[in-house]
Amino acid sequence: MSEQSLAKAPLQLPCSVVIISAKADNRQGAMTATAMYISQTPPLLVVSISKTFATYQLIEKSKGFAINVVADTQLDLSRQFGSVHGYEVDKFQEFGISTESASRIGAPLISGCFANLECQVKSSLWEVEGNHAVYVAEVLAFKMNEKLKPLVWLNSQYFEVGAQCRI
Ligand SMILES: Cc1cc2nc3c(=O)[nH]c(=O)nc-3n(C[C@H](O)[C@H](O)[C@H](O)COP(=O)(O)O)c2cc1C
Repeated sequence: MSEQSLAKAPLQLPCSVVIISAKADNRQGAMTATAMYISQTPPLLVVSISKTFATYQLIEKSKGFAINVVADTQLDLSRQFGSVHGYEVDKFQEFGISTESASRIGAPLISGCFANLECQVKSSLWEVEGNHAVYVAEVLAFKMNEKLKPLVWLNSQYFEVGAQCRI
């Protein structure tokens, strides 16, 4: 298969849509990303962040971040945080984002999300092809809103979560 067709392979995985927020040295930032479940006990998740992005610098300094799970009412936020770089603007100010303080980490929590997970970096992997750092993070605290639904990212498009399967 050609390199061009193989590049479509990773897009075939349904992914979570999250906004990763971080804060260090009085600077805050956030970017759209995807996070994956590793284990419940301990509660571990994994994210991969391009080393060229502003949020990467903040995570490297603070060793913590919040995973804000985007609700299907927040499609605009996902687009906004995923299209602009924090080196250029303060996305929170630019897009008028409401935030709340976290209980265990310095990063701001984005209001109105399906869930907010406060995470501490447990280990990192930098030698990944394609310029990304991979972070395994432990959840220290979380909250969720059961009235909302999360979004799904598949083949570069957004989807709503559908009905639960009945066996
Ligand atoms: C749905 C979606 C998922 C994304 N997932 C990731 C990801 O997992 N890792 C990553 O490095 N960038 C990802 N991006 C791209 C970043 O969000 C984007 O480049 C952002 O502007 C980086 O911001 P920053 O430079 O302020 O950190 C994603 C973008 C979208 C729209």
